[in-house]
Amino acid sequence: MSKKSVLVTGASSGLGLAAALLLARSGFQVFAAARNIHDLPEVPGLVPVVLDVSCQASVAAAFEQIAQATGGQPLWALVNNAGICVPSPLELLGAEELRRQLDTNVIGQLIVTQAALPHLRRSHGRVINVTSGLGSIAVPYLGAYSIAQFAKMAFTDALRRELEHSGVSVSVVQPGAIHTPIWGKFRATGQQLLAQAQPQARAIYGASFQAFLAQSEALAKEAVTTADDFAEVILQVLTTAQPQSHYCVGDDAGEFVAMARSLSTPELDALFSAQMPGAQAFAEAGATA
Ligand SMILES: NC(=O)c1ccc[n+]([C@@H]2O[C@H](COP(=O)([O-])OP(=O)(O)OC[C@H]3O[C@@H](n4cnc5c(N)ncnc54)[C@H](OP(=O)(O)O)[C@@H]3O)[C@@H](O)[C@H]2O)c1
Repeated sequence: MSKKSVLVTGASSGLGLAAALLLARSGFQVFAAARNIHDLPEVPGLVPVVLDVSCQASVAAAFEQIAQATGGQPLWALVNNAGICVPSPLELLGAEELRRQLDTNVIGQLIVTQAALPHLRRSHGRVINVTSGLGSIAVPYLGAYSIAQFAKMAFTDALRRELEHSGVSVSVVQPGAIHTPIWGKFRATGQQLLAQAQPQARAIYGASFQAFLAQSEALAKEAVTTADDFAEVILQVLTTAQPQSHYCVGDDAGEFVAMARSLSTPELDALFSAQMPGAQAFAEAGATA
């Protein structure tokens, strides 16, 4: 019998790479997709695919390659994992930066899923959407990323309900903090956006946003959850007889989901209040306007 095939987006780095390697070692034919695939290791069962999820032509070309490689056997699973994180106070966030966040994490996911569904319907296959704990609680300075993750959660719920009678299962996997290259890119992007901000906005947000970037990266470095833990959950979703609709990876992600359900909005607001610019920062900036 031929191997079941899986497309993993964002497989050149971090979580996607760990999942692609474990799935290949576990006997799947894995299409490991990203824009830059030059550094992907040569592993039996792992097929590199150039794929920019934000470009319709690139998605079409990738699915051509996959169809040729599978010789007409339909793709069995899709792991929508590709993503970026654009940190910024919302007052400083340019429309282009929000578009980049949504094009990659939301619209890209729609385009890839649409291309995969004709195959997945034939194979009675599986979709896994990777979101985040921030798909349950919106975090200040991660507004763009939270918007994208909430959208991905809604996308998953709507898709699962639409496909209820199709034979295709749809699951969401919400990781907590895991140390991967995303955190270095996160800090660099945040510092770049801060450097481009108007002096008044920089005066208000600069200190607390810089502290937020440094603390977030430091916390991620200390995270006990690993990319391999994430990969194990992906393998579980693809090998269990009846996938659940929802999985968390790491205690922190589970706590985020539980807090979103149990805490009131004022209680959630209070969690972040101490890290935000104080009244004095706003007053001083107002005086110089
Ligand atoms: N690490 C965490 O703490 C954490 C926590 C919760 C959720 N997540 C989510 O997990 C996913 C993977 O994150 P990660 O930590 O593994 O990040 P990462 O190490 O930065 O990897 C991101 C991957 O996405 C790919 N990518 C980015 N833009 C793309 C595009 N336009 N088209 C195709 N591929 C693209 C990157 O490859 P190229 O740049 O070569 O295209 C790379 O392979 C993301 O969706 C992220 O939101 C991560």
